Amino acid sequence: MTGDQVTAETVSSLLGDRELIVASNRQPYSHVREDGEITVTRPAGGLTSALDPVMQSAGGTWVAWGSGNADFDVTDENGSVRVPPESPAYDLRRVELDEERVEGYYYGYSNQVLWPICHVYPSKMNTETTFWNHYRRANRAFADAIADEATEESLIWFQDYHLGVAPRMVREKCPDAFCMQFWHIPWPSWDAFQACPQYERLLDGLLANDLLGFHTERYCQNFLDCAAMLPGTRVDRATRSVVYEGRRTFVRPFPLGIDADGRRELATSKDATTFWREFRREHELGEAVAVGVERLDYTKGIPERLTALERFWDQHPEWRGEFTYVQKASESRTQIDAYRELQAEVEDEVDRINDRFGTDEWTPIVYLNEHLPKEGLAALYREADLCIVSARRDGMNLVAKEFVASQVEDSGVLLLSELAGADEELGDEAVSVHPHDTKGFVDAIERALSLPESDRERRMHGLRKQVHSNDVYAWMNTQFRTIEAIQRGREVASKSLRRQ
Ligand code: G6P
Repeated sequence: MTGDQVTAETVSSLLGDRELIVASNRQPYSHVREDGEITVTRPAGGLTSALDPVMQSAGGTWVAWGSGNADFDVTDENGSVRVPPESPAYDLRRVELDEERVEGYYYGYSNQVLWPICHVYPSKMNTETTFWNHYRRANRAFADAIADEATEESLIWFQDYHLGVAPRMVREKCPDAFCMQFWHIPWPSWDAFQACPQYERLLDGLLANDLLGFHTERYCQNFLDCAAMLPGTRVDRATRSVVYEGRRTFVRPFPLGIDADGRRELATSKDATTFWREFRREHELGEAVAVGVERLDYTKGIPERLTALERFWDQHPEWRGEFTYVQKASESRTQIDAYRELQAEVEDEVDRINDRFGTDEWTPIVYLNEHLPKEGLAALYREADLCIVSARRDGMNLVAKEFVASQVEDSGVLLLSELAGADEELGDEAVSVHPHDTKGFVDAIERALSLPESDRERRMHGLRKQVHSNDVYAWMNTQFRTIEAIQRGREVASKSLRRQ
């Protein structure tokens, strides 16, 4: 039995008679028209690909923004289509948002207000006042679609920061549905969160959930600190819950994992081996290879990493010709200036460093911005001696976990930022870096490249154990078991109330 079967079954049995409704900004399937033909694409996202098998087994409805240009050519009058296309198992209900709404809600409030605030980048915040209105209205469109699908028996599972006020809107229409939300990015301290002009409205929205999940204990504590500042709340530290408007919201850490077995399989595939052979032939790599994989986002700390790498080759000439860094970068949110500027900065820096040190036989930095097949990515992870994750701030960071699960041959070393959520689980066996401490970063690269094999193996063994035992299926199971416990607790409480 595979991990996903186990979980899908467990989720189905934990669901009982309840119907699952998942709501997220990104959708699991998108219909796109190209040269007159409609094709289905599956946005490559950890969350969408992890939840899809559960939905396939449990059935139910997934509500998401229909962002594909042919999405509404295939839906019924409610915006629903059965998916997956080859063997329909659940409903994907698409929310239609016009261009202006997408600008204000997705590029605006979600990614130029909440994203910078939660990642503690007040300087990147855009205070354009129309954003909030678009965010609210987009949340209303999601809430209307959800409420239209929901019954009092539904279990509604909101994902992430795009849907901060939708739970309150749904709650007004479905007072007895069980609502939960997982916040995939960091939750900052009160000092940082207070920078958000709508902080009261957001806290009010989120506290309409019965259960709120974050990646780490620290984010939970930060959230409780913020909730305490909202008038009318009572924060109960002992049970990690908040009482507000007559309801109790439980706040719990659920560190997100990956499909670790799936990653391991990909890394051992023949296609991965073929990819790597070709890749080595095409590029002038050194003996040792490091890899970094990310969306081009200013929170990922790519320029700081390039500075450390340049200083490393500068101070350690013995590694020139011997050590190559491969950066896989994907374009992201390019309608936002900060993202376009970052992309230009990273590309200029890579060219400059390659001009400075590169030779005919050796390229210091191989920059890949084209699409990579999943086996290609698995090959990079498998063959890398180092994986560098030096985020300036990151909710969790699944790249660190993907690297570990793909390390099926010689053990490589994970360089991990202390500022990534993954540090809580993986920090002990990784070599820690601080993105802003260039000297420490250079030393860490040197140290990681020189670690004895026994040390590398010991560390990788510990990391593997953690990544496999706390995979995405364990993540889902723990949440569903927590819901069960909350519901049991409520039943007991209401019975004893009736007896009084
Ligand atoms: C982060 C967010 C996700 C989001 C992903 C990609 O991981 O937590 O919700 O889907 O970034 O960003 P995008 O803006 O392309 O959806």
